Amino acid sequence: MTPQQMDLVRRSFALVALQPDATAALFYRRLFEQAPELKPLFIGDMRGQGQRLMQMIGAAVRLLDQPEALLPVLAQLGARHAGYGVQAGDYRSVGRALITTLAEGLGADFDEATRDAWVAMYALVSTTMMAAAGQIRRAA
Ligand code: HEM
Repeated sequence: MTPQQMDLVRRSFALVALQPDATAALFYRRLFEQAPELKPLFIGDMRGQGQRLMQMIGAAVRLLDQPEALLPVLAQLGARHAGYGVQAGDYRSVGRALITTLAEGLGADFDEATRDAWVAMYALVSTTMMAAAGQIRRAA
C-alpha cells in the first residue's frame, strides 16, 4: 500500500467509526445476504462480535505503517479464524461485504481511490491471516 492509500483508509475509516454499531450491523446484514452459508459459523452475540470487528479493523488501520507490530496480530487472528471453521474462499465473501458496507456508509466520500485503497488493505489483511492459517503459502 502507498502512504496515500494508508491515509485514505485512515480518513474514511474515521468517518464510519463514528457509528461503529450501525456500521458493523450493516456489514453483517450485507454479509449474510451475499453469503447466507456463512451465518451458522457465527454462534456468539452479534453485537459484541460487531464491536470486536470494528476494534480490530481500527487497530489494523492504525498500525498500517508499522508492519512489525501489525503482522503478528493478523497472524494470530488468522490462526483463530481457522479454528472458527473459516475457509480460504470465505475471505472473498467478507471482502465483498466490507466494500459494499463502506460504499453505502461513505456515499460520495467512497471515491475510486478510496475503494482501491480498501481493496489493497483487505488484500494485505486477508492474505496475512490466511498465510498464518496455512491456507495459502505466503502473504502477497
Ligand atoms: C479482515 C478480515 C477479518 C477480520 C478483521 C476479522 C475479525 C474478527 C474478530 C476481531 C473476531 C473476534 C474473535 C477474535 O478476535 O478471534 C472475529 C471472529 C469471527 N470471525 Fe472474523 N474477521 C475477519 C475475517 C473473517 C472471515 C473471512 C470470516 C468467514 C466467515 C470470519 C468469521 C468469523 C467467525 C465465525 C468468528 C467467531 C464468531 C463467533 O464466535 O460467533 N471472519 N473476527
